[in-house]
Amino acid sequence: MRRYVGKVVFVAGGTSGINLGIAEAFAGEGAKVAVLSRRQDNVETSVARLRTIGVDACGFAVDVRNYDGLSASLESTVARWGPVDIVVSGAAGNFMSAAADMSANAFKSVVDIDLLGTFNVLRAAWPHLRKPGAVALNITAAQSWLPTPLQIHACAAKAGIDQVTRTLALEWSGAGVRVNAIAPGPIANTEGMRRLAPTEAALQAWTDCVPLRRLGTREDINRAALWLCSDDASYITGVVLSVDGGMSLGGSSAIARAMSL
Ligand code: COA
Ligand code: NAP
Repeated sequence: MRRYVGKVVFVAGGTSGINLGIAEAFAGEGAKVAVLSRRQDNVETSVARLRTIGVDACGFAVDVRNYDGLSASLESTVARWGPVDIVVSGAAGNFMSAAADMSANAFKSVVDIDLLGTFNVLRAAWPHLRKPGAVALNITAAQSWLPTPLQIHACAAKAGIDQVTRTLALEWSGAGVRVNAIAPGPIANTEGMRRLAPTEAALQAWTDCVPLRRLGTREDINRAALWLCSDDASYITGVVLSVDGGMSLGGSSAIARAMSL
């Protein structure tokens, strides 16, 4: 399908992993795509990858904690292609640490990247996004709903993103702008899972938490993102869509297995 021909898509944190997959998926359907992240080498590599798909692409080496840098990147994107149709906020940082061992600055760094960063991205995008049919999509996580050991920073930050999503959906509905989020479960072959499951046993433990009994793929997330931002979802706003094989349902998975279901 070519649902996004001529559309302008801005993906914060879009230079690797799940977010780059989303950027490539939009490009694959004809969108012009801007990506942003801290590292210049990541930006250059991802822009080159996007251009091989045959669309125009550009990128910015900016930290989502830098509001002025974000604003300038969005203005530059608009000067190049015109108003933004879709903004994706997916930059995140994560590591495993017990709360008792975590410094205040460690907690703050993840909250600042994930939660404040998402506010910054959407706030800076707003003047360029404010038109009927435009869409904002936040990337949250199953941890926003499921308390998860060694993840107090990410649980708190992602829960905040869910409320940012719902609040902005209300505030921006009058302008015809939809605001939604995707909450991935554990996604195979990503930096996130390399950090959260550094051993085979840990990876198996995460998989065992998924009722559908497999890790997710980037394609699972791409399909949800393309649908949620499309006109097929034009009556959907303020939703946090779990794409997690049922993980966010909670502890029933182990019981189902024990009962040989
Ligand atoms: N365990 C405990 N604390 C840690 C830590 C770890 N593994 N890694 C970093 N910290 C602490 C640091 O010690 C520091 O706290 P301090 O000042 O009290 O010593 C604080 O976190 C900030 O670290 P810093 O390296 O300055 O943060 P940063 O903003 O440069 O980087 C991170 C943010 C730490 C999240 C970094 O890992 C990152 O950039 N990650 C991006 C990629 C990623 O996480 N991908 C997965 C997404 S799901
Ligand atoms: P990833 O490959 O590490 O992607 C993170 C991206 O964000 C990178 O492009 C990184 O590039 C950028 N980034 C990090 N900090 C930034 C900052 N301060 N400012 C700007 N950009 C920044 O991780 P991933 O595993 O694919 O995760 C992507 C998203 O999915 C995250 O929101 C994550 O929370 C969510 N998620 C992942 C999983 C999973 O299983 N992996 C599960 C649930 C949710 P730079 O290093 O160049 O800045």
